[in-house]
Amino acid sequence: MVPAVIGESAGAAARYNTRMGSEKAAEPVRVLIVDDEENQRLGLASMIAAWGYEAETAADGQEALEKLAVFPAQVIVTDLMMPRMDGSELLRRLNAQGGAPTAIVVTAFGNLETAVSTIHELGAFWFMEKPIQPRALRTLLERAASQSRLAEETERLQRQLSYQGVLGEMTGRSAAMQQVFSLVGQVAPSKAVVLVTGESGTGKELVARTVHRLSPRRDGPFVAVNCAAMPETLMESELFGHEKGSFTGAVERRAGCFELAQKGTLLLDEIGDMPFGTQAKLLRVLEDSHVRRLGGKTEMVVDVRVIASTNRKLEEALQKKLLREDLYYRLNVFRIHLPALRERREDIPALCEALIRDLNRKHGCKVTDVEPKVLNILQTCPWPGNVRELRNVLERAVIIAGEGTVGVQHLPPHLSAGGFSPAPAPGDDSSVVTLRVGSTVDEAEKALILRTLEHTKNNKTRAAEILAISLKTLHNKLKEYGSAEEAES
Ligand SMILES: Nc1ncnc2c1ncn2[C@@H]1O[C@H](COP(=O)(O)OP(=O)(O)OP(=O)(O)O)[C@@H](O)[C@H]1O
Ligand SMILES: [Mg+2]
Repeated sequence: MVPAVIGESAGAAARYNTRMGSEKAAEPVRVLIVDDEENQRLGLASMIAAWGYEAETAADGQEALEKLAVFPAQVIVTDLMMPRMDGSELLRRLNAQGGAPTAIVVTAFGNLETAVSTIHELGAFWFMEKPIQPRALRTLLERAASQSRLAEETERLQRQLSYQGVLGEMTGRSAAMQQVFSLVGQVAPSKAVVLVTGESGTGKELVARTVHRLSPRRDGPFVAVNCAAMPETLMESELFGHEKGSFTGAVERRAGCFELAQKGTLLLDEIGDMPFGTQAKLLRVLEDSHVRRLGGKTEMVVDVRVIASTNRKLEEALQKKLLREDLYYRLNVFRIHLPALRERREDIPALCEALIRDLNRKHGCKVTDVEPKVLNILQTCPWPGNVRELRNVLERAVIIAGEGTVGVQHLPPHLSAGGFSPAPAPGDDSSVVTLRVGSTVDEAEKALILRTLEHTKNNKTRAAEILAISLKTLHNKLKEYGSAEEAES
């Protein structure tokens, strides 16, 4: 097999291709060689082309980026020291873009430290010392190619699943959820900060976990911290850690969440409720990746991807001066909003299927599906607690039914006894609550509250006004409904 070698003349870099025109042959793996020494790069390209790869060359990082735009290499073999843009900067840029090719770094002989740190910090696949040993390069290329094939296959499968309404553990066929899946897929490979918003129980934490799982940090830790209801000192100790004796109660040295999430992902839950003073410190860490423990003398560098989530309207928190404007702009770079479940009722059948499968596993049950009547009830509930509330209702039903089909008798009383009236048929007055004789006062109250909320499009202040109760009472009632179901299950 003679490689077709085209010289680097006429300003074009060499392109080597050994594809012999057999339609059955698999696509050759594309390799980009980046080296400022012409002899070295042409020699390498010609050699690996003879091994059956499709090779392209670039003289430095800058040219490599340009080449990759038209030649999407699966593997890149790059020198570190180069003019214009060196190898480290090239890898950094590729990582930031996401979907980077598998990288083999070529280092000067005896430069083990640089090699190891490049692998560690820039996620390179492996390194080779100069002069390159052809046999070692061949083995390494085969491994890198098979890793890249695996990554491509994983991505293909993920895409296929996402068309069928599944991404990781998330289910959703509605257009709104397909949009969420697409955003998750786009942002996951990068290190960009993500802001996830949506009502309670819509799946914000699940989105954060999915971003982590689909990112190159998937083997690193995923750490979640709740920023609400914590005094400033404790919050800062939680995030940044503390040295022994740095404040009353700091009896021993403790690592913070940023340290614990090193090389992984940190979810800052309920970011809208973070103490105001802590927000400035968080912003600094987001800007320069340096963390100092409370009472600590030295700073440490952290490599953490941050995801923030909130069920508050952040713009409101901004107006009320509960959230710093500069932090808001820093976090609001890539936003993923999860719609409430009542805005995507078409997701309910697929969600039921996925949740029942998961709950069967959890409780060792063999429930197969739900009766059409049950599905109708579930599809017409207002679901103020969103997917979490649906899961709780199904968890109770799966435990009670144990196997077979979930019937109306397996639903909690407020759903099964008709205490909650399903959505009105077209032409019905949607502002009417229908109660069956046999409903309890509690069930009637719940049905009235939920229907009123539906009527006000979940505007709780307005609902409380209509019901002539305080907003606090309304919140307590809603919490009670969610937690009662949780307790029952
Ligand atoms: N699209 C989905 N597919 C499958 N399960 C889901 C989906 N969305 C949410 N869930 C499930 O619903 C429950 C609540 O999700 P999660 O904890 O992520 O919500 P949240 O938005 O973080 O809520 P909160 O604001 O109360 O913290 C979890 O059990 C989660 O697995
Ligand atoms: Mg959450």
